[in-house]
Amino acid sequence: MSTTSFVTGAAGFIGSHLVDELLARGNRVLGVDNLILGRRENLAASLKNPRFIFRELDVNNLDAMVAFLQEQPAADEVWHMAANSDIPAGVNNPDVDLRLTFLTTFNTLKAMHALGIPRLAFASSSAIYGAHDGALHEDTGPLFPISNYGAMKLASEGSITAALERFLKQVWIFRFPNVIGGRATHGVIYDFLKKLRANPAELEVLGDGTQEKPYLHVTELVEAMLHIHDRGLERLNCFNIAPVQSAATVRFIAEAVVRAAAPGARIRYTGGSRGWVGDVPKFSYSSAKLQALGWSPRLTSGAAVERAIHENLHLAK
Ligand SMILES: NC(=O)c1ccc[n+]([C@@H]2O[C@H](COP(=O)([O-])OP(=O)(O)OC[C@H]3O[C@@H](n4cnc5c(N)ncnc54)[C@H](O)[C@@H]3O)[C@@H](O)[C@H]2O)c1
Repeated sequence: MSTTSFVTGAAGFIGSHLVDELLARGNRVLGVDNLILGRRENLAASLKNPRFIFRELDVNNLDAMVAFLQEQPAADEVWHMAANSDIPAGVNNPDVDLRLTFLTTFNTLKAMHALGIPRLAFASSSAIYGAHDGALHEDTGPLFPISNYGAMKLASEGSITAALERFLKQVWIFRFPNVIGGRATHGVIYDFLKKLRANPAELEVLGDGTQEKPYLHVTELVEAMLHIHDRGLERLNCFNIAPVQSAATVRFIAEAVVRAAAPGARIRYTGGSRGWVGDVPKFSYSSAKLQALGWSPRLTSGAAVERAIHENLHLAK
């Protein structure tokens, strides 16, 4: 009998790629999204599949979410992808991350409790670690996030582990790096391409271009999540997902975007080492635990950046 997977944030960038892959495995997939950040077009192919049922719905409307799930075949597992992905919006207004990043997790857990759904896969983030020197491992601490987004992801992880003690049977926590690729709804490449559309002569870059982070292509991220889901057999499975020892600077990304979308455009750096308050300007991510589980990405950060630029070039037109 095939697995029934419930995906929150299904119309988002990562959620929609995940839905594609779950369907490709033969799963029945139930998806919800309130479309505040995601787009129905992201689900264009999946919506044609009779094994996919989508409902436009706010995860924080618990009654509506439970009612939707009660109408469908019982879900075996939840993939909780819904959150605020607009980090600067959460810096300006902390309520955004309280509602979209934390309360969506809290309400998803309530729905799982009400319906007896036993397994949860959760999209967490490198932002839970805060600023540290050296590579971030799963047991790096203390965990003092420096953004509201990171704080609400950490609070979500805490609620999930508490629910594991109380009623869940199994949990997979994935700590993502920067994820890039087609159908992007946000992020540095998305922002640069949109800026060049507005002004093809100049690209304004926040900071001095030296910020350096690991970037993973969304197809590899989804592959890694499914690998951990299939082979992470502990009750609580927590994994960093990252490219192997590679990162890309903002300068590298800006130059690659200009080359591809607006050759000859001037790049103007606003200065300072941080793009915005709460930004961790440089970090390196250890994926040793994931490699030990048998999965490594094929793309370096730089190669993932080049591929993602080409997949999103329409944004500059
Ligand atoms: N993209 C990255 O680099 C990255 C990095 C770390 C973690 N993550 C996490 O991965 C997950 C997916 O992110 P993404 O990059 O695809 O962003 P995204 O914005 O494209 O996807 C999130 C989706 O959740 C939906 N959503 C938000 N609040 C909702 C609510 N109350 N009810 C229903 N739907 C709601 C949005 O409309 C959107 O479609 C998020 O949890 C995000 O925090 C992403």
